[in-house]
Amino acid sequence: MSQSKPTILVTGGAGYIGSHAVLALQQAGYGVIVLDNLVYGHRDSTEVLKVELVVGDTCDRVLLDQLFATRDIAAVMHFAAYAYVGESVTDPAKYYRNNVVGTLTLLEAMLAASIDKFVFSSTCATYGVPKTVPIPEEHPQSPINPYGASKLMIERVLTDFAHAYALKSVYFRYFNAAGADPEGRVGEDHTPETHLIPLVLLTALGRRESVSIFGTDYPTPDGTCIRDYIHVTDLAQAHVLGLEYLLNGSETTVFNLGNGNGFSVKEVIDAARHITGCEIKAVECPRRPGDPPVLVGSSDRAKTILGWNPQYTDINQIIAHAWNWHQRQH
Ligand SMILES: NC(=O)c1ccc[n+]([C@@H]2O[C@H](COP(=O)([O-])OP(=O)(O)OC[C@H]3O[C@@H](n4cnc5c(N)ncnc54)[C@H](O)[C@@H]3O)[C@@H](O)[C@H]2O)c1
Repeated sequence: MSQSKPTILVTGGAGYIGSHAVLALQQAGYGVIVLDNLVYGHRDSTEVLKVELVVGDTCDRVLLDQLFATRDIAAVMHFAAYAYVGESVTDPAKYYRNNVVGTLTLLEAMLAASIDKFVFSSTCATYGVPKTVPIPEEHPQSPINPYGASKLMIERVLTDFAHAYALKSVYFRYFNAAGADPEGRVGEDHTPETHLIPLVLLTALGRRESVSIFGTDYPTPDGTCIRDYIHVTDLAQAHVLGLEYLLNGSETTVFNLGNGNGFSVKEVIDAARHITGCEIKAVECPRRPGDPPVLVGSSDRAKTILGWNPQYTDINQIIAHAWNWHQRQH
């Protein structure tokens, strides 16, 4: 694909969502450089996508200064972060250092290099326990774990940097990213894996004995938690639109990115049984502390302002793409 558009630095571009954003940027004609420390990322995926990989850390100011001084980078898409909610509770220092200090270091290096456009991965975990669903962007933010708090801190930093330094950003609060590139080039491969759909599919593949259902007595139609699963390819497409919104001179804005439809844990498992043709053993367990019954977002703002039009909102299609990827991997 020939490049006629500027070059974008994608931090965390060897990870799950970042690799799909790299693909979407390439398809839209942008040049891409990935910065990833490979703590959780995969060199393989950057090789499949034939994207330049700089192995390094967002906390490394010397490396960032060198990168920005030697390369013509128009904007930064920032996926690099740690994202294990449970670990953030037991080891908050790790999360505040990487997600807050790492991002601040990156932003300061950008300011020094006069790069003023930033697309940031925030999360629905900044809302905490929702008072209303679907959750709009104006919903109060009260995160209940250090992971969500670390992302909210950066949202605040971005608001202040917009006022003080004219650094423009789009920050996206994602719900549950799921699925894989429909053509199977990249997909979801977290170690350890904590997300429901890959856990269900790894069980179907016989790599796990069973999948746990945490809580069957929630006030939902089948008693299990309802979540909003957004296809990672739609998520990646929204990032290209968010980038172009900034390149066109727009101001700092926040957008939710979700499916708008919720699916219960049991619905996801049943859909996966249907798609894979496998039994998939499920074990009912007690509720986990801090799990709200329903988490579903309203993405009307992204649709209206960015013209975002998600293509893969059917849970069966999301699972089918993930299944295709997992079968190829294992
Ligand atoms: N997966 C989801 O459902 C979800 C939901 C909401 C928000 N998010 C956010 O989206 C982003 C991407 O999530 P993901 O699921 O793709 O995670 P991931 O772990 O697959 O990708 C993150 C990548 O960042 C890299 N990285 C981490 N810290 C780094 C650092 N300091 N310097 C350089 N590279 C670093 C990792 O090696 C990894 O490749 C994260 O910021 C996460 O908080 C994800």
